[in-house]
Amino acid sequence: MARRMIALLIESQSKQDRTRFMKAFILDRYKKSGALRLGEMPDPKPRDNDVLVSIQAAGLNPLDAKVRDGEFKLLLRDRPPFILGHEMAGTVVRVGSKVVRFKPGDQVYARPRDGRVGTFAELIAVDEADLALKPKNLSMEEAASIPLVGLTAWQALVEVANVQPGQKVLIHAGSGGVGTFAIQLAKHLGATVATTTSTANVALAKSLGADVVIDYRKDDFENVLSGYDVVLNSLDARTLDKSLNVLKPGGRLISISGPPDMAFAKRQGLNWVLRQVMGFLSRGIRSKAERRGVSYAFLFMRANGEQLAQITSLLESGAIRPVVDRVFPFGAANDAMAYLETGRARGKVVIT
Ligand SMILES: NC(=O)c1ccc[n+]([C@@H]2O[C@H](COP(=O)([O-])OP(=O)(O)OC[C@H]3O[C@@H](n4cnc5c(N)ncnc54)[C@H](OP(=O)(O)O)[C@@H]3O)[C@@H](O)[C@H]2O)c1
Repeated sequence: MARRMIALLIESQSKQDRTRFMKAFILDRYKKSGALRLGEMPDPKPRDNDVLVSIQAAGLNPLDAKVRDGEFKLLLRDRPPFILGHEMAGTVVRVGSKVVRFKPGDQVYARPRDGRVGTFAELIAVDEADLALKPKNLSMEEAASIPLVGLTAWQALVEVANVQPGQKVLIHAGSGGVGTFAIQLAKHLGATVATTTSTANVALAKSLGADVVIDYRKDDFENVLSGYDVVLNSLDARTLDKSLNVLKPGGRLISISGPPDMAFAKRQGLNWVLRQVMGFLSRGIRSKAERRGVSYAFLFMRANGEQLAQITSLLESGAIRPVVDRVFPFGAANDAMAYLETGRARGKVVIT
């Protein structure tokens, strides 16, 4: 009997010691348009400030494709193999000893901080500071579509631009992931909002509250708009240049698609050489902006659970609604990436 008890104890201890594995989409090496590998990785081990979350849905972003292609190698310092994926929604399984705001069973969502991403997986350990309660009125799929684009729009329009009621704001690519959220946030802040989109998405942009919708297949926004306080650019260098012409003196041009500037390099803690490189890359647009009496800033969004909690309130009040284009099953993550990379998604692409 005693022997049997000891055997059972040893068996249970060795079960606890045994590393458990979860399914995940792994980036084995940086490669342009390379497929992610569905494999197994050890379950994450939460630190004291971490919350272990069972992921029920993950949003996709062009950032995933850019990281996979190696475009952010110098900036983000993630070394393959690692799990890709920058946002998720799910249920808390366990909390670290110092966690105070969350408990097992809570439904949460997050954009985990750089260096600790990996939402195309069954589990993730997220720093408590990056996490917020999931909006109660949203499904897991809808909630997973929000953190990265919601925080991007918040940091651009609230933090950097400090948009005030009555101001005029141009949001480029109004039917995309960032655009669909940013139009609604700018309207909530009391701005008059213009956006650019193709003919097929004019109705969507209007339904999100845009006051002026410019069909870029028919009109050039530069000839239609003037006197704007803020432009949020997510498109190419030509659009960035032309955006200067619609701003009024003192206006702000904020770009999330580059070029990066020195202030960004400093915030990222990059070395002197890289700071000079970033300064050089943005020299043209900065001097053009200066000549016109407007400012230029590059924004690279950051994880922020407090801001995400404020976004939760906006979603729960109905001020902002999620726009999800397609939901793919977990196993079809590579198909979901390919769909996103067509550049034609209306709102967000999610895996579940
Ligand atoms: N720096 C940051 O922190 C940050 C954060 C988020 C995103 N980003 C970057 O911002 C960009 C946009 O991200 P996203 O998630 O919004 O992308 P997305 O959802 O993949 O964008 C797709 C949308 O872009 C629209 N679009 C394409 N070309 C357009 C044009 N010339 N004019 C107007 N609309 C156009 C498409 O609409 P049509 O089919 O109607 O053309 C489509 O609905 C990406 O480069 C991303 O990497 C940066």
